[in-house]
Formats: sequence, C-alpha cells, structure tokens
Amino acid sequence: MKLWQGRFQSELSEITDDFNQSIAFDSRMYKEDIEGSIAHARMLGDCGIIERTESDKIIEGLRGILADIDAGTLLIDMKAEDIHTFVEGELTSRLGGTGKRLHTARSRNDQVALDIRLYLRRQAEETTNLLERLLSVLCGKAEQYSAAVMPGYTHLQRAQPITFGHHLLAYAQMFLRDIGRIEDAVRRMSVSPLGSCALAGTTYPIDRLNTAMALDMYNFSRNSLDGVSDRDFCVELAAALSLVMVHLSRFSEEIILWCSWEFKFIELDDAFSTGSSIMPQKKNPDIAELVRGKSGRVFGDLTALLTVMKGLPLAYNKDMQEDKEAIFDAFDTVKMCLTAFTPMIETMNVLTENMRNAAAKGFINATDCADYLVKQGMPFRDAYKFTGELVARCIELGETLESLPMSEYKALCEQFDEGVYEAINLDKCVGERLSAGGPAPENTIAEIARIKGLLTC
Ligand code: ARG
Repeated sequence: MKLWQGRFQSELSEITDDFNQSIAFDSRMYKEDIEGSIAHARMLGDCGIIERTESDKIIEGLRGILADIDAGTLLIDMKAEDIHTFVEGELTSRLGGTGKRLHTARSRNDQVALDIRLYLRRQAEETTNLLERLLSVLCGKAEQYSAAVMPGYTHLQRAQPITFGHHLLAYAQMFLRDIGRIEDAVRRMSVSPLGSCALAGTTYPIDRLNTAMALDMYNFSRNSLDGVSDRDFCVELAAALSLVMVHLSRFSEEIILWCSWEFKFIELDDAFSTGSSIMPQKKNPDIAELVRGKSGRVFGDLTALLTVMKGLPLAYNKDMQEDKEAIFDAFDTVKMCLTAFTPMIETMNVLTENMRNAAAKGFINATDCADYLVKQGMPFRDAYKFTGELVARCIELGETLESLPMSEYKALCEQFDEGVYEAINLDKCVGERLSAGGPAPENTIAEIARIKGLLTC
C-alpha cells in the first residue's frame, strides 16, 4: 500500500518498487522518525490543528511502536517504501482514523530532512566520543614517552631530535581539530526543517519553534525551499570525516613504517596484528593498512554527496535519497576504524632504545653542533659549513658526532672545545627546545594537561 495511491490507476511495477525503495537503508532512522513525529503531533495538538485527545493518542501510539521495535516484537516491514511510510502505516493500523491525522501540515520532504539531521547528530556524538577516547590514549602514551628521544624527519630523512611523546601529540592536535569541525557542522545542522512541508510551507497555523525546541534544535530553517533541499550538513560532515580519515591514514602509514624491520620503533600487540598463511615469520599491521585503505571509501562518499547535489533544481528531488547511504557509510567506516585503531595504539610496545639509536646515528644534532659555534661568536653560515665538513669526516671514519675525538674537531675548526659534547647530547638538545610548541618534555607535559582539560568524557 503506497501513501500516494489515490492518483494512480494501475499497479506499480515490481521493478519500480524495488528501485524506488529506501527502507533497506533508512530503516535505521526509525527512532528519529518517531521522535520527529511525536514532536509534530504534539505541536498539532498545541496549536489546535487537531484535537488534543487525538494528538495524545497519536503520541501514545508512536511511543508504543518505538518500544515494540526496540524490544524486537515489531519487525520493520522491508516491503514498505521507506521508514516514514512504515511508521505511519503501522500507526494507522493501530489507531485507525486518528493515525491518519498525523501527516497534517507535513510532507515526507520535511520529515526526511529532519530525520537525517537527528540521526546524524547522534552519529556525530558517537564519533566525537571515539575521537576523545583516542585522544585520551594518545595523552597517556605521550606522557609515558615525553622524554623518549627519536629522530624527527623531513623528506623521511633524519632531521632533528624530538621525542615520541611530541610526535604523538602532533596527531592529538589533528584529532582535536576534527572534533571541532564535527561540532561546528552539527551546530549549523541543528535547525529544524519541519514546517517547510513539501516545499512551500502550509496554510495551517503551525508553530515551528514549538517542534524545533522539542527536538532540541536552536531554531527552524528560514526558507521552506531551502529547508527541504539543504543537504550541506551531509557534505560538511563527510568532509570532516574525510579529514579524520586523512589523519588516521597518515598515522597508519607511520605505524606500518615503525613496525617494519627497517625501523623497529614499535611492535604491535599480537591481539592487534595478523600473520601470513605462508611466511611463518610474518607479523602484519593489518589494522593500520585497512584504516589507510578505508580512507578511500570515505573520500568516495564525500565525492558522491557533492555530485548528487551539484545539479539539483529546487526543491526536493528523488536524487536526494542517495544522500543516506553515502553519509551512513562515511560514519560507519570512521567509527569502525576508530574502534580498531585506538586499542591498537593503546597496546603497542614502544622500542625506545631503537628510537634512540636511530637518533644517535642520524647526525640529527648537527644543527645543535653548529649552534654551539654560533654561541661562541661565529656567524651561522660559517658554523653550518664547518659542521657539514665535520659530518663528512664522521662518515669517513665511521664515527658519530658524539664519538668523534676532540682532535678531529680541532683539526677542522679551532673554536671547538670540550663543551661541544654537552651541546650535542640528545637529551639536552631536546630538553632545550623549549620554544612554545617545541618538543621539550616540559612542553609535552603541559600540553597533555591542556588537552585532558578539553576532553569531556
Ligand atoms: N525516501 C525518501 C528520501 O529518502 C523520502 C522522501 C520522499 N519524498 C518524496 N516526495 N518522494 O529522500
């Protein structure tokens, strides 16, 4: 039975029916559909558009349907056209004529525009909670390794000394921005389209603020055409989620590198890595690889949403039914990735000795060596040149700056003295990088405290 049956004489082709349906994916919005309908029914009663007794009956009926679906005693009929049709049909079969009054001053166009906002608001909250959980794990690890020296890289070449804690907190900054972007999108999305009706509002004396407030939205949308045809929030959220995936994917790439034999900076816990069916020695970082791979899905979802919307005339067009699978998939994917990624990070074993060895062999204190000469009064360019020659000499002799004897230093530049060994000590090099935002352990500890203060759960 279709809601729009009156106009048609012959039966709908099964092909059209299958092609047209959205129940397969919008049934997950049943809660939000019912919440929206309850708010709408109450407003109809408050405004005297239907009898109060009838609106009360409708609300009670809708609550019953929600409870029955939650309890598993009412199964959603997958033959219904969409979730809106199913709920209204079920209400009418329970209440008879009274149920038929629910759709007064409403259309599925403003109904679906509301449902998806309510549903995505919940998805956004679950996602930010997962991001906060990851942030708190990152803070814990960063605290533990706030003084663990490792090489910092540019061009994937060892560059200057940092700590593992500082490196982890770089990701924390990215995930903090991600939370901000999601919250920002949610704030803009939190206006109620209800009352836009099909596209042109209604002649009934509805109260749009009444429904908006009941649904915890701060206002109603200001134009009925825009109310039913705006899907900016899907795009904004998909873009924010795409950036989450960019960050997770870059992090995954580093995890994969770090657990290779070439780096061996970390080892993943057995519970979060997999083996090979043929090579007995293998321990693979599959979670990190899958997260890196799944980023493509989310970028695809964003592209799909932009493409669906770009050529649509106002107001509602059926193309917009395609919004749901894309944005649902983006949220499902990001939540799944975060759920696996966080415990993988939490349980990884950090091999600080290997990090320190890599730092010691990489001449990453060469800048500090040059700075030492500068502090003795030499212009930086000259100090840079002498230090470059010193590095070349070390390579020739198979030494590091730390192990090179003073005679070699002096042979290249008279101004070197014993003090240079302290100046190039890795812990000191890192410890003195106290410039705001720099890797000194003191900075890291202070930043962890700041981040923890921002977390809400
Ligand atoms: N299933 C539809 C969607 O997801 C609901 C809105 C239908 N409106 C309409 N005029 N056919 O977009």
